[in-house]
Amino acid sequence: MAKKKKKAAVDFRYDTGAAKIPWAAVGEPVLEEDVVELVKFLLPPLDGKKQAYAAQLKRATSEITKLRACSGTAGKLSLSKKVEELEKEAAKILRAKYALFVTNATAGFEIAHKFAGLKPGDEVIAPAITFIASITYPLSIGAKVVLADVDPRTINIDPEDVARKITPRTKVIFPVHVGGYPADMDPIMRLARKHNITVIEDAAHAFGGSYKGKMMGAIGHFGSFSFHEVKNITALGEGGILATNTPFGKDFAKSRFLGIDMGKQVKNWLYDVVALKSKGDCFAPPNHSTTEIQAIGLLQQIGRLKGIIASRKKAATYLNSRFSKVPGIIPPPLGTAEIKPTYHLYLLQIDPEIVGGDVQTLKKKLSAKGVVNIPHYAPLYKFSILRQLGYDTKAIEKTCPVAERMFQKTFTHLPLYDFTSEQLKYLADAVIESVNEMKAGR
Ligand SMILES: Cc1ncc(COP(=O)(O)O)c(C=O)c1O
Repeated sequence: MAKKKKKAAVDFRYDTGAAKIPWAAVGEPVLEEDVVELVKFLLPPLDGKKQAYAAQLKRATSEITKLRACSGTAGKLSLSKKVEELEKEAAKILRAKYALFVTNATAGFEIAHKFAGLKPGDEVIAPAITFIASITYPLSIGAKVVLADVDPRTINIDPEDVARKITPRTKVIFPVHVGGYPADMDPIMRLARKHNITVIEDAAHAFGGSYKGKMMGAIGHFGSFSFHEVKNITALGEGGILATNTPFGKDFAKSRFLGIDMGKQVKNWLYDVVALKSKGDCFAPPNHSTTEIQAIGLLQQIGRLKGIIASRKKAATYLNSRFSKVPGIIPPPLGTAEIKPTYHLYLLQIDPEIVGGDVQTLKKKLSAKGVVNIPHYAPLYKFSILRQLGYDTKAIEKTCPVAERMFQKTFTHLPLYDFTSEQLKYLADAVIESVNEMKAGR
């Protein structure tokens, strides 16, 4: 196939005006063979359908080649109109003043902590049970992570333990909406106001859910969402949205892209580069730029979000209706008029005294029945990284007795998605049978 170079759309950085040899022309365009490779990757052949697939792919390739003969090429692949459209849509859904599309939720946490003015030696209070990404940035700069115990009903951060662990060095409280069920934000925001602390919500699981009429991720000063491939919706594999209602949002675009200031032209050069003002000193922004293709992927899935959450809610409601009839199984709280979870994961708990065994035995039984439970969330003090960085992890464990007991004895997560009714029944039966076997001492 002959390569057809097309002029790319301009970017302010390459906007050198009308020219015979414009800089914007530099860069390899995406050609039809690239598109076909993408199609093959995203829509691979089904087992047993390889022949039919090869024939259809040949036809599709020929159609794409014909389409290409009368099309231009995408000029701008990074940070352009689709990213803007996505950010507008996200801000609308979240009812937030500002939304920024970044590479992943972890990148959003980094930017939020920088705006919060976090410095080495400052303290961040995070829940004992979450994913390690929640605390990676404070650890990376030598801030101190203080782990708060969790609420046994929801596995989310316990505001009463947060209150006990606040010190004059506390700069950030970091609630996590685990599994898409909201942490109790009202008492956390009261503590934050009282002590002038920044609240950064880990809303990795929480896009589209709400707490007392406010969208999760837009309640604290900052909230960061994940669109990694395992989440309810994905930006084609990776992506994050950082949201805020604070005036720091005015600097969001610069905070994502190296502090480049398009609004300020410098003599003999196109733009200035600035450090950004935080709650403390200025900071040098990182580069967490995203692509137009990721934005298209996420916009498409956002269009289906309501239906996706509804089908997960239906599955969770069915599981609760089955499990609530079985003594010893503790079903998780579902949505109410005030609480609208996203049903990302199903929090399954047992009462070890009634069941006559703990969740470790249940996990083995479920695996033997072909039911995948998710052994992902463990107390962070169990990971080598904290010990290696000099934390006294045994002492931390003693301050988080609920997290320790839940991890050892009571909880696991089940996946939730658009199960077939057979899958859903099998899942409920497998849990109930396993629990009954444990009760019978088998
Ligand atoms: C609770 C929690 N926080 C943060 C993250 C990090 O998200 P990302 O991979 O988009 O950085 C995850 C990802 O699984 C998560 O589960």
